Amino acid sequence: MPESTWWKRGIVYQIYPRSFQDSNGDGVGDLNGIRQRLDYLAWLGVDAVWISPIYPSPMADFGYDVADYCGVDPMFGTLADFDALVADAHARGLKLILDFVPNHSSDQHPWFLESRASRHNPRRDWYIWRDPAPGGGPPNNWGSNFGGSAWTFDEASGQYYYHAFLKEQPDLNWRNPAVRAAMYDALRFWLDRGVDGFRVDVIWHLIKDEGFRDNPPNPGYTPALGDIQRTLQVHSCDQPEVHDVIAEMRRVLEEYDDRVLIGEIYLPLERLVAYYGADLSGAHLPFNFQLIHTAWNAREISRLIGEYEDSLPEGGWPNWVLGNHDQPRIAARVGQAQARVAAMLLLTLRGTPTLYYGDEIGIAKVDIPPDAVRDPWERNEPGLGFGRDPQRTPMHWDSSPQAGFTEGAPWLPLGPEHPTCHVESQSKDPRSILSLYRALIELRRRHPALSVGGYASLRTDANVLAYERRRGEERLIVLLNMSAEDKHVELGALGLEGGRVLLSTRLDRSDEFTGHSVELRASEGLIVKF
Ligand code: GLC
Repeated sequence: MPESTWWKRGIVYQIYPRSFQDSNGDGVGDLNGIRQRLDYLAWLGVDAVWISPIYPSPMADFGYDVADYCGVDPMFGTLADFDALVADAHARGLKLILDFVPNHSSDQHPWFLESRASRHNPRRDWYIWRDPAPGGGPPNNWGSNFGGSAWTFDEASGQYYYHAFLKEQPDLNWRNPAVRAAMYDALRFWLDRGVDGFRVDVIWHLIKDEGFRDNPPNPGYTPALGDIQRTLQVHSCDQPEVHDVIAEMRRVLEEYDDRVLIGEIYLPLERLVAYYGADLSGAHLPFNFQLIHTAWNAREISRLIGEYEDSLPEGGWPNWVLGNHDQPRIAARVGQAQARVAAMLLLTLRGTPTLYYGDEIGIAKVDIPPDAVRDPWERNEPGLGFGRDPQRTPMHWDSSPQAGFTEGAPWLPLGPEHPTCHVESQSKDPRSILSLYRALIELRRRHPALSVGGYASLRTDANVLAYERRRGEERLIVLLNMSAEDKHVELGALGLEGGRVLLSTRLDRSDEFTGHSVELRASEGLIVKF
């Protein structure tokens, strides 16, 4: 794959469709809403849009419980609306990536209804059924990611079925070739409609230990970590055979031109990179969530970038994610000033960046009152901070009462800053975080050193992250002050003299020349050209 391939050079923007734009006043975003905002995305400058699930669903996990892999939930619109969205996106040069949720379906999916109907149903083996343990109770000690056992007993047939998430999300049996064939047909259904790729949900979960052995206890477990941390997920996911399945999926995409396979994988680095597959036969982009989980300081981040770069397989393309619908928002984690530094980091690292909607306007922490909680994880394990509603609240478009998101009552509360923090005002403010995102995206496009150039770390004082991006003659240095104090950086010591500032996170010092040294203000990032 040449380095000009769209998913290497491009920037992915994730939309949580319930919260982007409502077009029919029901308080939930929809496909026609996204269509209305395509001009915004083109203006922002992103290349591809990934949309969280839009399939028919009882919404027990807000769409990650799919009842039909080849349809659109009426809440989001129709297949015709979807086709129009693809056409409109493509007309603007935007790629469209769907979320594919193959590990589990909804318990209302016709396949599961059949599977559950009796032990002898031809679809029984499409899901994972087991007899109770010899003394009674669940077949093994595997836990659900949302708390409690991963096994639910079915009175009628006397067996348990397995669900890595909610009991409304039974796991499909990916060892069954018929399941695989049906799922690949679902992929083709969307590829035929022009979809440019998939982000595959919990891809490392698809295959489980054949013997269903107990997971070992987690010596570091404390109740605050939540139920799932009682054991180490050694046998319930990340099995060697999963890579054969992913290679098959990849071959389905390769029946078409230029499509991308992205895998959602929460694993330590050394396990994560296995998902590029043998000879790069796996995911094009195994999502790299390291920035989300690493302490926010220059030393740790510099170390992690180095480790990640070093562990990539030959030819494996890097990628970086700062936020998504499952993780606290970046501005809530590091504050507004560092959220700008984070933007510069994300958009100047080597590899494909994924932006999460709303981060570009700095939506921060949104407190969800108890009676407004919607996330099933928070409901199952309340008060431990697992709730994902705060990062799923509606986009702020303008100063109208519901921020231009809906004419009705939004399904989740709007962020408290919405009257002043929105696209309309920030797009006119040359110093806003939105203007910064736009400038960074534009700069990244103009200077391929930033997207596809080489990466080298530079040594500086504590809490200034410094690195070089280089391509051919072009040499760009990124200096990120990750502290709340001003910093003096000696450039001479780094052999860097006579540079020109291309961009500051404060958007107020372009074209300044740097000499032997440069002053970074608190939480300021600079891109300097040499
Ligand atoms: C993924 C999704 C998350 C969902 C879970 C189960 O982690 O990102 O939102 O709850 O899978 O499908």
